[in-house]
Amino acid sequence: MVKSAIDIRIAEHAGFCFGVRRAIRLAQEALKKSKKEKICSIGPIIHNPQEVERFSRMGLEVVGEVDEISKGRVVLIPSHGISPQRQLDLEIKNIELIDTTCPYVKKAQEAAARLSKEGYQVVVVGQKEHPEVKALVEFAGGEGSIVVKDATEATGVPILSEKLGIIAQTTQSKANLNNAISALLERGFSEIKIENTICSDALNRQVAAKNLAEDSDIMLIIGGKESANTRRLFDICKRIKLDTYHIE
Ligand code: F3S
Repeated sequence: MVKSAIDIRIAEHAGFCFGVRRAIRLAQEALKKSKKEKICSIGPIIHNPQEVERFSRMGLEVVGEVDEISKGRVVLIPSHGISPQRQLDLEIKNIELIDTTCPYVKKAQEAAARLSKEGYQVVVVGQKEHPEVKALVEFAGGEGSIVVKDATEATGVPILSEKLGIIAQTTQSKANLNNAISALLERGFSEIKIENTICSDALNRQVAAKNLAEDSDIMLIIGGKESANTRRLFDICKRIKLDTYHIE
C-alpha cells in the first residue's frame, strides 16, 4: 500500500483576532460578576456561532432589539459595535452597559463622526449589510453617507459635497480599498480625505493567508460564515487557489 504524506500548515496569524479575544474575556468576566439571568447581549457579541452557542450554554441570552430589554439588565455591546442611536436608547433606559466594541472599530466610528463634523460627505468602503458598517453610516450622520463595496460601486457615488471623506470597514483588504479610492479620485471632488481604518490584526491575517495560499494546494479557511474577517480571507485565497473551502 502506498502511503501519501499530507503536509498541513497553519498560517502565521490564525485564530481569534485581538478584538474577538477581548470581547470573549469581557463577556466571561461579566458572567462571573453578575447574575446570569440579568446578562444579555444586543446581537451576538462575535460572529462565531460555536462560541456564541458556548456562551448561551453559560447563560448569555442574545436579544435583537432594545425594546426587548427590561430595566435592571446588564447588556453587552458586541465587538462590531452598535449605532449611536441604539446606544442612546439603551442609556435612556438606564441600562448597565458593558462595551466590548473592538478599539479598532471604535477608531473607525470616531473617524466617521469626525469627517462628518468637518463637512465631508462620507463614503464607507465595506459590506452594506454588516452591522459594523450600518453603525459606521450612522456615526457619519446617515443620509449623505454612502456604502460602496468596491471600485465599480464607487464610480456611481453622487457628488453631494465638494469634500469627500473615505473610511473602510475594519476587515476590508487593502487592494479593495485602494481600487475604490482610485475610482473615487476620478469623480471630481475638489478635496478628498482618507482615514485608513483597516485593522492591523485583520491585515496581518490577510497577508499570512495569502502567503500560505501561494505555497499550498488546498486552503481551509475556518471561521464563522457571518464573519467579515473570515470571508475576506476566503476571498483572498480563492483568488489564488481554486481549492479553497470555508468551513465553520
Ligand atoms: Fe478583530 Fe477588531 Fe480587527 S474585532 S478584525 S481586531 S477590528
